[in-house]
Amino acid sequence: VDLSGMLNLFDLEKMAERKMTTMAYEYVASGAADEWTLRWNREALDAIKLKPTVLSDVSQLDTRVTLFGHELPYPILIAPTAYHKLMHPEGELATARGAGAASAVYVVSSFTTTPLSDIAEAATQPLWFQLYVRDDREFTKDIVQEAEAHGYRVLCVTVDTAVTGVRNRQQRANFTLPDDMQTPHMPGSLLEQKPLTWKDIEWLQSFAKTPVLLKGILNPDDAEKAVQAGVSGIIVSNHGGRNLDTVPATIEALPRIAEKIDRRIPVLMDGGIRRGTDVVKAIALGASAVLVGKPVCFGLASAGAEGVAKVMEILRNELELTMALTGRASLAHIDRSVIW
Ligand code: FNR
Repeated sequence: VDLSGMLNLFDLEKMAERKMTTMAYEYVASGAADEWTLRWNREALDAIKLKPTVLSDVSQLDTRVTLFGHELPYPILIAPTAYHKLMHPEGELATARGAGAASAVYVVSSFTTTPLSDIAEAATQPLWFQLYVRDDREFTKDIVQEAEAHGYRVLCVTVDTAVTGVRNRQQRANFTLPDDMQTPHMPGSLLEQKPLTWKDIEWLQSFAKTPVLLKGILNPDDAEKAVQAGVSGIIVSNHGGRNLDTVPATIEALPRIAEKIDRRIPVLMDGGIRRGTDVVKAIALGASAVLVGKPVCFGLASAGAEGVAKVMEILRNELELTMALTGRASLAHIDRSVIW
């Protein structure tokens, strides 16, 4: 696939739209209900203005960040997204290879269409695992231990999906997973779940050997409870606008949460990150790193592993350009003073 004309993440989305079935495209692109939150994630980032500093030495840019004991070359991760075989025949294996080529951490979804062991074999960069806790505790414990045994380094427990949101656009596109695709770590019989509570988080931490992160925090009070529960980090997320419509953009929720957390644990953020400037804004407002969901799905649909790598490389490059142009040589120099 010729990706030379793909200059930014929006170009790749357009290419993916041409290649994907309507059902698959609608599945990835859509948000919950009237899609207010989906739009706000982007609009709120665009509305923030940057304040550059000139004549500072930016000849050596340092984008490294250390998270949970491991150094990442740049602070952008691949968010967990379901059903990669829907986007490309090589599915999660292509995502893992693309992540490897781009030196990025890939957070594998519980709804992977490829076994965790096969992804681990294809990966050359660290993997994290995203967990949906189900009623069957035995099963949940087994899968956490399986992920750990295959070297998945961090456990991201998604806490914003007590039920699936109102997904009208998906319904209109008649979304169903094709019969030849399976989710080996999420058998249909386990889809029913009782609401997850703080007690379950305690239980998970009682046996998890890897750091536990909570993904899907928007409320500063929940962020405080997360610290009290002893988790290793949180991801400020509204599930890419897919679950509860009219909750705020993540970039709007982030500063209040970062203030509450006050650096006790790392705060990550996702939702609407499409440009290097977005990454700088998120870091300025308290994120240690960000994740990208839909763009990676579109890169995967466009060109498999190469497309995934392209998405990450474009964002990484744009981050570096933004740092150079704002006069911030390292992530540590990106603080609120870079916001107008
Ligand atoms: C998701 N997301 C998600 N989150 C999760 O914890 N488990 C999952 O299985 C999925 N699946 C999923 C599928 C698709 C197609 C999308 C687009 C998203 C949410 C995802 O991890 C992340 O929070 C958002 O995608 C981030 O927003 P952007 O980057 O898509 O704007």
